[in-house]
Amino acid sequence: MITVIGSMNMDLVVDTNRVPENGETILGKDFYTFPGGKGANQAVAAARLGGNVHMVACVGNDVFGTELTRNLQEQGVDTANVSYSSEKSTGIANIILSENDNRIIVVPGANYELRPSMIEGLRDMIKMSNVVVMQLEILPETVKAVLKICDELNIPVVMDPAPAEFFDRDMISGIQYITPNQYECEQLFGVQMDEALEMYPNQLIVTLGKDGVRYFDGEKHIHIEAIRTNAIDTTGAGDTFNGAFAYAISHQYALYDAVRFANAASSLSVEKLGAQTGMPTKAEVEARLAL
Ligand code: RIB
Repeated sequence: MITVIGSMNMDLVVDTNRVPENGETILGKDFYTFPGGKGANQAVAAARLGGNVHMVACVGNDVFGTELTRNLQEQGVDTANVSYSSEKSTGIANIILSENDNRIIVVPGANYELRPSMIEGLRDMIKMSNVVVMQLEILPETVKAVLKICDELNIPVVMDPAPAEFFDRDMISGIQYITPNQYECEQLFGVQMDEALEMYPNQLIVTLGKDGVRYFDGEKHIHIEAIRTNAIDTTGAGDTFNGAFAYAISHQYALYDAVRFANAASSLSVEKLGAQTGMPTKAEVEARLAL
């Protein structure tokens, strides 16, 4: 069982040829709403691969909250531990797609209503998990409360440390696998990527977008090349990597195989618009790996 403790957002996506300057108004090309949030995205990525996934999150008592919860249920994710806040509205992400990249502003809203005091009640559920998956779009204190219980119960944690500004170096000892991108890695550890990789062998796995993935196995640097693909929207590629990686780890894949599997899953995810739309099934990942 995979337990994801994290955010659920409605993604409000604007597709535009260029980003406006300060004080300028321009016309965009398209507007979409998509289910998102790093937590929910990673839950869906693991569920679509066939994982038994439980989501722990908080949404607002509003239309977006209901829609996001229903979306998770349709994807086969257990939502018994998704709670509703009457104080805050559902988290949103304002996403600008432009020039084959994205810029994202997240407003956490109800995601910050998932309080540390609510975590003790999840102890039994955490105990039954093969892996707990987290990111940093919920309160850092809540993340730390989860890490403490996982440490006591000896449950492995996979963490995508994004947004990186909320990472606290104290967290690292409670995390079995941490999966930043290169920018986040340098922000987190304050040194060049290869130096950071050597500090955390078989624990720090850095995703490099179109350049693949790297980690250090204790003796040598392992580089897995990205699989070439026609990228339409890279939003959620890192989430697909993390969800697929957690799926593989919870199914006892060796580290190299888990990274390779997640790398292939994320290459498929960017072929469709929206964070979750392109997340692949296991058969699709295996077909890509066989190419
Ligand atoms: O990682 C992509 C996600 O980041 C988006 O779905 C958005 O909601 C933000 O949380």
